[in-house]
Amino acid sequence: MELDNPFTKTNRAAFIVETLALSPGLTVLDAGCGPGRLTVPLARSVGPDGRVVALDIQPGMLARARTKTAAAGCSNIEFVVAALGKRTLPVRRFDRAVLVTVLGEIPEPAAAMAELFDALAPGGILAVVEVVFDPHFQSRRAVTALAAAAGFRERAFFGHGLAYVVHFEKPADG
Ligand SMILES: C[S@@+](CC[C@H](N)C(=O)[O-])C[C@H]1O[C@@H](n2cnc3c(N)ncnc32)[C@H](O)[C@@H]1O
Repeated sequence: MELDNPFTKTNRAAFIVETLALSPGLTVLDAGCGPGRLTVPLARSVGPDGRVVALDIQPGMLARARTKTAAAGCSNIEFVVAALGKRTLPVRRFDRAVLVTVLGEIPEPAAAMAELFDALAPGGILAVVEVVFDPHFQSRRAVTALAAAAGFRERAFFGHGLAYVVHFEKPADG
């Protein structure tokens, strides 16, 4: 259940997707998609001419995401079983990427950030979401340091230190 309070607002799928101001035709990566909580709203936002790649390390999570997205009637989604950081993503493919309460579960977060940076098209945006209730919570300082090391520039911040959405941009010449 998602409660509408100051801590959970920034982790609501609708809120996260809204921050990205998606338009039809964009290609979006849902990295660590889990059971597909964001995958459906992302797929609807980019429309039939757009595409969502839903990636997760756990096949069982992707099976749940498939069931959820099929029930929602979305056909513009590709499912990928892979570990972020292991260099399976195509380069310069995505306009947007979301990484929602995933980073702290990844043993090599710097490698994951570098792969996300390369997977985004120049000018592309990565949204990272962290919430203190998640046992793998990552501080804003730690996330920003990882993103900067990969080459990202911070573009927007929503929420507060204990529950936030932060946008990082891959520079146009990146
Ligand atoms: C807390 S869940 C969040 C799921 C979804 N993003 C959401 O907000 O509902 C974290 C997800 O990250 C996935 N994950 C953990 N490490 C990963 C990795 N290295 N590569 C891809 N997915 C990973 C887990 O399998 C799990 O589904």
